[in-house]
Amino acid sequence: MNKNYYIDPDIKKAETLPALFYKDPATFEAIKEQIFLKSWQFIGDENLVKLPQSVHPFILLDSFLTEPMLLTRNKDEHISCLTNVCTHRGNVVALHPGKSKKLTCMYHGRRFNLKGEFEHMPEFNETENFPRPCDNLHQFPLRKLGPLLFAGLNPSFDFQQVIDKMNERIGFYLWMNLFGHLNF
Ligand code: FES
Repeated sequence: MNKNYYIDPDIKKAETLPALFYKDPATFEAIKEQIFLKSWQFIGDENLVKLPQSVHPFILLDSFLTEPMLLTRNKDEHISCLTNVCTHRGNVVALHPGKSKKLTCMYHGRRFNLKGEFEHMPEFNETENFPRPCDNLHQFPLRKLGPLLFAGLNPSFDFQQVIDKMNERIGFYLWMNLFGHLNF
């Protein structure tokens, strides 16, 4: 961020940010790079992939981060947040939410399991040094808070540290109002 915005840490002296903060395109881009790419985003709840062998494609913060992602629940109930971009030529892998045992890219048939692990590619049997770990679909970090799911592109801090701090300060109020119980 090439502009300096100062907020006094003393709340008695701190003032509202200047209007420029909300209007300057460079600040907007800097916030994307320095905050949103490095933090956790709410992506929905577990009901998006309620049943085993469910897939749910979505775009993370469309028109801002615009990252194609894929939420999956495999038959062992493991939930993953994967890139929805094929590791072959970048085609979108899953187009619609629903039940699916495998992820198969419709472009050239590359197939992955619901954890994003490469399984098969037609006509690549003779290919040397293949597959490699980079042929798996990238897994994004995923955290749960009760039924709520949070993912990050490249989070620079520990999710649990934030939750612990919230619990410490407003835990009773927050969880009672959000979920009506305290089982976290
Ligand atoms: S782009 Fe997916 S198999 Fe080729």
